[in-house]
Amino acid sequence: MDIKQCCVDFYQNELVRVLFGDSLHPGALSLTEKLGTEIKLSRENKVLDVGCGVGTSSIFLAKKFGCAMTGIDLSQKNIKIADSVASEQGVEALTNFVVGDAEKFDLSDNTFDSVICECSLCLFPDKDKATKEMFRVLKKDGHLGISDVVIRGELPEEIQNALFKFICVLDAKSESEYTQILEKAGFRNICFDDKKKELQNLLKDVKRRIFVAELAINMGRLKLNVDIKKVKEMLKLLSECISSGLISYTLITAQK
Ligand SMILES: C[S@@+](CC[C@H](N)C(=O)[O-])C[C@H]1O[C@@H](n2cnc3c(N)ncnc32)[C@H](O)[C@@H]1O
Repeated sequence: MDIKQCCVDFYQNELVRVLFGDSLHPGALSLTEKLGTEIKLSRENKVLDVGCGVGTSSIFLAKKFGCAMTGIDLSQKNIKIADSVASEQGVEALTNFVVGDAEKFDLSDNTFDSVICECSLCLFPDKDKATKEMFRVLKKDGHLGISDVVIRGELPEEIQNALFKFICVLDAKSESEYTQILEKAGFRNICFDDKKKELQNLLKDVKRRIFVAELAINMGRLKLNVDIKKVKEMLKLLSECISSGLISYTLITAQK
């Protein structure tokens, strides 16, 4: 199967919503708020959210900072959900969700004051193309805010296989590799802020959700087409990699 489609299928799967809820990144909306503050969002701003999922962050930022949000995601299903949630929450005038590929989107040059990309860059097969697109649509001096997984070195084979199997592709980079990619795209003032704690808390939260899901499965109230035992094994391996510093999560800010 096409790797991008495989990734999209994974992130629109019901299991993902069961395990992670609507905000699909460590730190959830508090980290989104921090990112918005770091890149100085305001009601005058036009902001692009690349890999916006079901629009949770875009809708939150539109409400919190009053900025005009455009969200793009490769999943038609996610975009449909984002549109209906935005209407339900009365922010449709400030939000616009479109289906699009992060590596090439149909938006004009020098349009946005800021671009955000949360927990999605690690999923894009061609990061050079994706970051060049972000650079292209940003206005001069515009801000980039990314939050993403960091992998510092070679992962144990069993965890690589498990990650590939469960989330299709996780091509996260180290801080120096992200720096190279962003510099190549033209960005400057690149800063990192490690968020290991947020990743550890997310894992704890997922474990709690699995516990609840297992109870519901045992009571016949939930059916999931997944081997919960394998998911638990993977989470244990992940915890070890996070504790050792091999895997972390980071906020990256930069400027055009
Ligand atoms: C981990 S989720 C993050 C969603 C959202 N940013 C959040 O933090 O809640 C990754 C999202 O990236 C989207 N995605 C994956 N590959 C993509 C691509 N090539 N172009 C656009 N979106 C993509 C998936 O459909 C998914 O919604």
